[in-house]
Amino acid sequence: MAKFPHPEKAILIGIELQGDKSIPIAESMVELARLAYTAGVIVKAKFTQKREKPDPKYCMGSGKVEEIHAAIHTHDADLVIFDQELSPSQSRNLEEDLGVKIIDRTELILDIFAQHAHSREGSLQVELAQYQFLLPRLTGHGVSMSRLGGGIGTRGPGETKLEHDRRRIRKIISDLRKELKKVEQQRALRRAKRRGAAMPLISLVGYTNSGKSTLLNALTNAGVLVQDKLFATLDPTVRRFSLPGGKTILISDTVGFIQKLPHQLVDAFHATLEEVSQADQLLHIVDASSPYAEDQINAVYNVLEEIGAITKKIITVFNKIDLVKDQQPLDELAKKYAPSVKISALKKEGFPELMGLLSN
Ligand code: GTP
Repeated sequence: MAKFPHPEKAILIGIELQGDKSIPIAESMVELARLAYTAGVIVKAKFTQKREKPDPKYCMGSGKVEEIHAAIHTHDADLVIFDQELSPSQSRNLEEDLGVKIIDRTELILDIFAQHAHSREGSLQVELAQYQFLLPRLTGHGVSMSRLGGGIGTRGPGETKLEHDRRRIRKIISDLRKELKKVEQQRALRRAKRRGAAMPLISLVGYTNSGKSTLLNALTNAGVLVQDKLFATLDPTVRRFSLPGGKTILISDTVGFIQKLPHQLVDAFHATLEEVSQADQLLHIVDASSPYAEDQINAVYNVLEEIGAITKKIITVFNKIDLVKDQQPLDELAKKYAPSVKISALKKEGFPELMGLLSN
């Protein structure tokens, strides 16, 4: 259920809040643009604004709203994407004043996930996250509806419908949870079978686009989809792999991690991420060519901490070294995150060193 049937033209907006210690706005905007590209959206313009706190009505100042209005006109844009999460009333106000569809980063990611989920489990997880996202937004709408109804005992038709919609969505959420539970049980069975086979399970983790699928392909010819788009991998793949010394291991690929991963997604992808918490060892793939490599390492560590996998043995694999010009910062990172190895999954460089670490 992708929302973007034709390439939509979008304006991106980022608000830099004072004292916000998360990633720099410039980096966050680059990522937002890549997310938009992945969703099939054409980015026409980007705006950022520094603020002490978000404006309750529009998130940004009203002067900026006018500027955006003009830009929408100039670029014939039909979508505005916010880097921040918007409150239901902020997105409604903006939609009314700007006259185009307004979405935030979470909705964009949900849309990409919806486009990329192929397995039954992946689709169920995305659908669950989408309805969880929708439910509080319907409630927000209800506030104004009940005000319109006015007077004791007069329930406006809007509100009755809203109550009905809310009940329906709660029922859908509970049905999806039940269905997911069944699929999870089947996955647990498969996992138990693998355990019975007594092969160590190694999970590939890493920031989205770091090269996990490329490495898995290079190692096992698994035929995993590789794309220069974010989140090409949503469904975990498990492959058997023999090391040169004769030891056999299982390697599983997982969903790419990202900064500000919407909470609904961590929750909905719980089962996929569980594959990681069940692993004996983690191979953490890092895009060594990214100027934000260390921020991305930290973003991955945050998710690992959240799912209780941070204490596992982690081998850090600095990938894409064929694109790295300045070796010194990379060498420092490699030392800091040891045991580590430097490779190019694309050019198949550094594999003997990687095999050496895996064989230990
Ligand atoms: P998600 O599915 O988003 O989590 O991505 P991923 O981590 O599985 O990344 P993927 O393997 O899809 O690779 C992303 C892009 O990086 C692709 O265009 C790859 O060709 C490219 N890539 C991967 N490894 C290397 C490498 O060693 N060198 C270079 N130059 N490019 C690489």
